[in-house]
Amino acid sequence: MIGKQTTKHRSIFTLADAEERARNFEDYWIFTQAHSGDLIEEDKDLTRKRALLQQFRNNPVQLSQPFPGAAFYRNYVELKDKAEALDRKTLLLTCIYKFARHEWVGITGAWKSTPSLGQAKHLTDKISRWHLAEEFCHVRFFHEMFMTFKLDKLEWVPLSPFMEKIYQIFPLFPEILMSPPAFVTELMGIVFYREVDAILDEVFADEPSARDRLRALLDEITVDEIAHVGQRRNYIGSLGVKLSKWMLPTLFRLFYADIPETRVLFDIEKMIKTGLEFDFNEIPERIIERAWIPSYCI
Ligand SMILES: [Fe+2]
Ligand SMILES: [Fe+2]
Repeated sequence: MIGKQTTKHRSIFTLADAEERARNFEDYWIFTQAHSGDLIEEDKDLTRKRALLQQFRNNPVQLSQPFPGAAFYRNYVELKDKAEALDRKTLLLTCIYKFARHEWVGITGAWKSTPSLGQAKHLTDKISRWHLAEEFCHVRFFHEMFMTFKLDKLEWVPLSPFMEKIYQIFPLFPEILMSPPAFVTELMGIVFYREVDAILDEVFADEPSARDRLRALLDEITVDEIAHVGQRRNYIGSLGVKLSKWMLPTLFRLFYADIPETRVLFDIEKMIKTGLEFDFNEIPERIIERAWIPSYCI
């Protein structure tokens, strides 16, 4: 198959001892700085990502038809119409917004409760700060997807105060409790982005330039997420691996229950299976060659 990689990788759940995982943190740290650039703490931004976003903005895409935003604006924060009744473009865009919104709320909470670069004591503190800044860059890339369709009235709306609190206290949990769900949510991201990629050609068949732009933005996010899934995996040993596999189906189902669009667009049970079987081998070469994978998965 064109674009498919030839290298064979191992399951993301492959076991590794503490020493090998420590070496992988060192290796990841070198990768992430080279890949994303320097941290701009006050802007929650990274130099290379900022330049990349500017490149996209400097080259706006021409739509073949103006995108009618009424249905999007009515449904993006909360689905008001029947999901089945929406056109596929609107449905996919409101779905992406809802996914990204959770991400935005989660990282906003986490940013407040994790040490700044100046306060960082351990290598993993610095890695976490870069990781969170990359996630903020993803929200900017998602925003750029919506700007492609001139949806400039879109706002990033907070979740309920209860959900905000949950996301804020989550990073304060001891590492042993926090790591498996944090790893599973990264895995959930990868599976979701690949599913979105798989339907882009069909949904945006009559908007090829916009489709290519969405894919380019999605690729940028996916490259980071491939690295994140390995990095978060690196925190967990054999017990954490078992716990992660055990909680994955429930976390996927709970999360997607909150995004009704996914019922129509995707097959959640298939996504669970993809998550449990994830081994990097289905990720296209154009993404893999730019991403980071733990040594024990290669
Ligand atoms: Fe992300
Ligand atoms: Fe991530």
